[in-house]
Amino acid sequence: MKDQAREWLCPARSVAVLTGAGISAESGIPTFRGAGGLWREYRAEDLATPQAFARDPKLVWEWYDWRRGVIAQAQPNAAHRALVQLERRAPEFTLITQNVDGLHDRAGSARVLKIHGDIWILRCSRCGREHQDCRASIPDLPPRCACGGIERPGVVWFGEALPPDVWSCAEHAASRADVFLVIGTSAVVYPAARLVDIAKVRGAKVIEINIAETAASAIADISLRGAAAEILPELLA
Ligand code: OAD
Repeated sequence: MKDQAREWLCPARSVAVLTGAGISAESGIPTFRGAGGLWREYRAEDLATPQAFARDPKLVWEWYDWRRGVIAQAQPNAAHRALVQLERRAPEFTLITQNVDGLHDRAGSARVLKIHGDIWILRCSRCGREHQDCRASIPDLPPRCACGGIERPGVVWFGEALPPDVWSCAEHAASRADVFLVIGTSAVVYPAARLVDIAKVRGAKVIEINIAETAASAIADISLRGAAAEILPELLA
């Protein structure tokens, strides 16, 4: 199956990739679902919502602050680096990520469509001002804007719209792809998971890389089972 995947990938004119938390798992960043997915007793769905933030901004921030600390200690792994190589090699290449950790940027990917935002951006919930804040730990939670409003992480929460310009680039790339790679995502969060369907319907070969079966496995042309940091470099060798 790996040989077949290589045969599709090598000559592909247009390649699009969707990554999820699993690609950063080997960098030591916990995924959201499955073993180790809980923080204290909370699931991502309990915290990553506007309602949770309105109810208890300090609690939601404590979770993000913890994740920021973990991410700050982490390094991109061989899977992130392999996608940098693929970007240089494919005539047309689009990297779409659900991850907010910034590891694709740190690995050297030139263009990353961050459909769920960026954990290192803070946005004022009153005046909307955005700025980058790369401190691993924010001393006083929740952080406040100069206008006095409470700042929130610059990420997309459940129930919120995806950034429209970023999303339309992602849809466009999925619909043009000859090969669509789905890497380290459970493919249960929409609309992100819809990109897999769009690519498939528009004729792309869908190649999944994941340690386990997922919601995308049934429509993938090939499912490669194993860690992304092992399999991706092998595909490009
Ligand atoms: P999930 O936590 O739902 O899924 C992680 C996937 O990675 C699972 O399918 C695992 O089997 C797989 N996996 C784990 N380790 C792996 C490895 N070493 N190599 C390959 N695969 C591995 O994460 P996402 O699908 O990214 O959204 O979750 C989607 C969204 O839900 C996130 O962006 C976040 C979350 O709530 C928001 O916060 C809006």
